[in-house]
Amino acid sequence: MASKHIEVVVAGVRPLTPRIKEYLLASADGRPLPRYEPGAHVALHMASRDRGPIVRHYSLIGGLAGRDDPRHVYRIAVQREDRARGSAFIHDTFAPGTRLRVAAPVNDFPLDRRDACTLLIAGGIGVTPIVSMARSLARRGCRYRVVYAGRDPAAMAYRDMLEAVAGDRVRFHYSDAAGVLDLRGLLASQPDGTRVYVCGPAPMIAATHDAGAALGWDPGRVRSEVFAAGPTGDETAFEVELRRSGRTVRVGPDASILDALRLADVPVLWDCARGECGLCPLPVVSADGPIDHRDRYLSAEERAAGQTLCICVSRIRGTRLVLDA
Ligand code: FES
Repeated sequence: MASKHIEVVVAGVRPLTPRIKEYLLASADGRPLPRYEPGAHVALHMASRDRGPIVRHYSLIGGLAGRDDPRHVYRIAVQREDRARGSAFIHDTFAPGTRLRVAAPVNDFPLDRRDACTLLIAGGIGVTPIVSMARSLARRGCRYRVVYAGRDPAAMAYRDMLEAVAGDRVRFHYSDAAGVLDLRGLLASQPDGTRVYVCGPAPMIAATHDAGAALGWDPGRVRSEVFAAGPTGDETAFEVELRRSGRTVRVGPDASILDALRLADVPVLWDCARGECGLCPLPVVSADGPIDHRDRYLSAEERAAGQTLCICVSRIRGTRLVLDA
């Protein structure tokens, strides 16, 4: 996958909830930013003086009618995770005028507007791509519904924006008061042929897929994107030696092996960056600590053998990893 970095500058900061802030990232040179489709995300590349490179991925929310131009501004929202220092770094250091690099948008969660009916389900900060999708469906007059679940109204960003976009097509579910969202009941009540898009925490994604399976739905009718906070911040740094090229790269606690190799301009193959597609695994020569496999691609046997790892998500619990690359 080609990587094209774009210089941007923070043009606005707005608190949305006690833990979520919105950031507007403007083109630094005034030229239009690359276009994107609903569901797309950007990778932010930052550098912390004491922790090294930080890379985080955030969904693009789109513009507000009449308030900013999506060709020149990317809108993202960042939830501060107690254990994820990348988000804490953003909350603590990003201010109007902060400059950083972003990669060109990537879309692993594309919206198909040809479906007869669409159900969008958001959990917590997973609302960000759902807002963009709802806006797109509304603009085209598509038949759709939105369900946005969170603990309580005060913790849920963009409720007003969703209401403005979707009106009475959106339903809010407050789990502190109403308990866990009944996903099976929700899916069962949809018109025939409805396709579901769900973004939120991993258990919610799994429960939605399970609900679809229990109802006998074709697996393709549920599309999902896990809201992942990235490395937890409790990670430790380690070195990666590339045996064939003779290079050694440091992987900081706030970046993946893939991030570190790309930042060092080491050519690597990758696509999903989520441990799903199987494009990035590299052969392991040795590791001085256990491999922490975090992908969903390798088989249990391959993981146990320890001869390969997905560099986009997996790490080692040690100090030195040698790859045959
Ligand atoms: S890039 Fe897809 S599994 Fe790593």
